[in-house]
Amino acid sequence: MAYGSGGSSAICMEGGNRLTGTVQIQGSKNAALPILAASVLIPDECVLKNVPCITDIDCMGNLLKSTGAVLDWQEHTLLIDAENIREYRLPARYVSAMRSSVVLMGALLGRVGEVLVDYPGGCVIGKRPIDLHLFGLEKLGAQIWTDKNRIHAYADELKGTTISFPFPSVGATQNTILAAVTARGTTVIQNAAREPEVTTLCDFLNKAGARIEIGYDFIATGKIVIHGVEVSALHGVTYEIIPDRIVAGTYLFAALGAGGSITLENAPVGQLRSVCALARRMGAVVESDEGQNQIAVRTDKYGRMKNVAFVETGVYPEFPTDLQSPLLACACVSEGELTIEERIFSSRFKVVEELVRMGADIEVLNNKRVHVRGVERLLGRSVIAKELRGGAALVIAGLAAEGITTVTDIGFIKRGYQDIVGDLKGLGARISYVD
Ligand code: EPZ
Repeated sequence: MAYGSGGSSAICMEGGNRLTGTVQIQGSKNAALPILAASVLIPDECVLKNVPCITDIDCMGNLLKSTGAVLDWQEHTLLIDAENIREYRLPARYVSAMRSSVVLMGALLGRVGEVLVDYPGGCVIGKRPIDLHLFGLEKLGAQIWTDKNRIHAYADELKGTTISFPFPSVGATQNTILAAVTARGTTVIQNAAREPEVTTLCDFLNKAGARIEIGYDFIATGKIVIHGVEVSALHGVTYEIIPDRIVAGTYLFAALGAGGSITLENAPVGQLRSVCALARRMGAVVESDEGQNQIAVRTDKYGRMKNVAFVETGVYPEFPTDLQSPLLACACVSEGELTIEERIFSSRFKVVEELVRMGADIEVLNNKRVHVRGVERLLGRSVIAKELRGGAALVIAGLAAEGITTVTDIGFIKRGYQDIVGDLKGLGARISYVD
């Protein structure tokens, strides 16, 4: 896979440029990963289009190959032939590199009835247990043994049942869906995650021959009904990965922070309502055209954005936790004060330390709340990315800062952004990869 960044390890930028122009939004990391895992269920070749060239996809591809699937990349199109899946033991080096490998459990249980996987460790944004994943799989009849760092799951036969999640976990919902597709009988999931990355997974599976029902009132009910089918009933499908709502939101906050007038092309307009509403409350002009998949964002020519008093992250369709750090970076240079409550993860303020080093006025009130007072300007300096969305937030801060900012450890950013430098350079930013 060819990355926009090549082998570079840092991003350097000179702040002060307003952003103008149009940017094409890449395919969604969080939609593509579970769909790649789902291909393991299908004894045929699938053609996935608009797959983002990012390291997490590379990692999932290596995991698929380790099970016996055959992959072939053609630019942003990925061909996956999972006719001969024979290995149920997943290599630790890839599992530990990417937590979302855990959704392969449901797919392998559904296809071969067994999986051996390392516990996907926590990360800087929180503990990230997988108890809800195991809850769903056990309800479907899987027997699960765990020791300190490995999980062995086995199912003679998965049986449909009713599964009510106490919390609408995205990954646990996806894992349970993948195991239920070929279970005997019908599975009803209650309080499923409503994120678009769940509905697009179900859409992909249905096009491949699964029988999954999601009602028009899914956002209200969180109910998914899955009628089990035989593996042999599943067939190859050509499917286009949806655009990445978090990448789109990242560039929207970059424009609010640096100022300017940009158009997000191929943007998932309907999935960004909470984000666009917030941008308007901050003083931006946001015009979205769902038919054209376009979002136009304009800030007053030279005015700073105005912070709203309080924002909390939540499950879809509330404000997404993955845009909490990009919002925080933009808020650092907006007028007024903002308190953010992070309701999804237990430790998602790691970027604060680096923003404060750039001159931001931020106080971490506790592991759930942070308070920011906007300042006239941030000062460019060398800062360290510590995780994916925090790294993107540092780029947003650098574009709004005075002087030169260098963001190091950009391997985190390359996990989810296909070419953040190329995208922003196309909007007029003075930015480049450096070694
Ligand atoms: C997915 O993670 C995304 N990752 C995350 O994006 C995103 O932030 C998150 O959903 C919420 O939208 C992928 O899709 C690959 P969860 P996931 O299970 O599935 C707790 C990014 O930046 N929980 O909904 O892991 C968990 O600790 C990434 O692209 C349990 O307690 O999210 C967290 O506090 C970051 N037990 C909360 O639920 C469980 O078994 C939300 O987790 C599972 C989760």
